[in-house]
Amino acid sequence: MESRKEGILRHLAVIMDGNGRWAKKRHLSREFGHRRGAENLRTLCILCREREIQYLTVYAFSTENWKRPATEVSALMSLVIRVFRQYMDELEREGIRLRFIGDRIGLPAEVIETMVEAEESSKNRQKLQLIIALNYGGRREIITAARALSSNILAGTISEDEVTEEIFEQHLYLSDVPDPDLIIRTGGEMRLSNFLLWQAAYAEFYSVDCLWPDFGAEELDAALEDYSKRQRRYGGV
Ligand code: IPE
Ligand code: IPE
Ligand code: MG
Repeated sequence: MESRKEGILRHLAVIMDGNGRWAKKRHLSREFGHRRGAENLRTLCILCREREIQYLTVYAFSTENWKRPATEVSALMSLVIRVFRQYMDELEREGIRLRFIGDRIGLPAEVIETMVEAEESSKNRQKLQLIIALNYGGRREIITAARALSSNILAGTISEDEVTEEIFEQHLYLSDVPDPDLIIRTGGEMRLSNFLLWQAAYAEFYSVDCLWPDFGAEELDAALEDYSKRQRRYGGV
């Protein structure tokens, strides 16, 4: 809510789509595309640090992505572990705090351990918060919050008419993080695919044909330039 200051971009969110198509064009495996995609996330973090963006949320795996072949799913899960191990030192040097949103139930134990370790070891870092949406679904997030709230109501710790937007938000995954100002989707689709449904209420949306592994400084700056020209009215005049 506080992020509603004209022109300032505090929180960028990215739907990193197009790894599969990027690989296909090169006659490579989808897994290889995901690996290049993960390397590109490292690049994006550095670009965001340079541009003093405070929060970067990226969509890595949706609650619907389990529909993919088991080999692709497990390659994606192993990638999370590998990437964290590989970039741990660099994340520290860059002052990047890691946080995860999504449903931990259903994730392999080793992935959960890596997530907990990454969050724990980086929690005092201040430069950039990198929020990774893993096994994330906007509807699942909202349902989880609704369940928590209704059990509080049943327990009598809060009454029904005390439930406001602010109270509801406190039950979402990271209630201390401001809503995203800009959501970029690579790969050309014009949809949210269940990403940040609640938080996206007044986000600016930007879709670009560029496939995720090819998205670099030039593409990011074009998106930021476009964003800087938008007039955010929030329902006003
Ligand atoms: C995005 O790339 C990464 C994930 C969803 C994990 P895709 O794998 O969806 O790539 P395309 O859309 O098939 O090209
Ligand atoms: C959205 O991409 C999810 C991620 C980028 C992780 P998808 O490729 O899963 O989205 P759809 O299926 O095209 O909507
Ligand atoms: Mg896709």
